[in-house]
Amino acid sequence: MTVALEVVEDPAAACAELMLATVAAGGDIVLTGGSTPRVAYSRAAGADGDWSRTTLWFGDDRCVPPDDERSNFAMAKQALLDPLRARAGEAGSPAVRRIRGELGEHAAADLYEQELRAAGSGRFELVLLGLGPDGHLASLFPDQPALNERSRLAVGVEQAGLQPFVPRVTVTLPGLALGRQIVFLVTGASKAPAVAAAFGPQAGPDPHVPASLLPPLADNITVLLDSAAASELP
Ligand code: 6PG
Repeated sequence: MTVALEVVEDPAAACAELMLATVAAGGDIVLTGGSTPRVAYSRAAGADGDWSRTTLWFGDDRCVPPDDERSNFAMAKQALLDPLRARAGEAGSPAVRRIRGELGEHAAADLYEQELRAAGSGRFELVLLGLGPDGHLASLFPDQPALNERSRLAVGVEQAGLQPFVPRVTVTLPGLALGRQIVFLVTGASKAPAVAAAFGPQAGPDPHVPASLLPPLADNITVLLDSAAASELP
């Protein structure tokens, strides 16, 4: 239930450190998409580490081919997976559980649901998340039915609430809450209102601000912020 707000000089470096600590312990990581985490992924890929005991999952993806520039998998492949494979070869690389968005949102969500359940609920040591300017997390957008899902771990999202306006697959709030450590990586002044609305002292669970719905379901949430993203906090 508690949310730790950490304003740090270099959120990407702090996030990379958390990833490397998780990898050193052989834990799994649920990756976030978007643009903010790219630098953190590159930093983590460039540091020493044996990723062979880690499995990488995705908190959401767009229903596009895996080599499409809008794909979260494509971003992670370029920033993290390919550099790791180039440095450590297949043997030293993590297993990857990609969301097969090209199958369509509902078929892909059903498949991912099965994979998540097969992994067992204790697997997700670190869940990484971003925050949209509208307060969305993963592909859980304001006022959408997916926010009410409390039994499935993954669902299809027919209409994205922000660009790219393609169908999505997203891990649900109870799925994200399985993370032993849940870390939001949020930078830039454009996110400051959403940070205050989701995590500020006046914030409470509000479907208009999806990220505000996670703290009641999860312990151990940390929000890594730069000063610009924290600028509307007291
Ligand atoms: C996605 C992401 C999404 C992202 C936020 C923030 O598929 O778009 O998973 O939840 O984390 O939109 O994105 P930026 O980091 O690009 O601002």
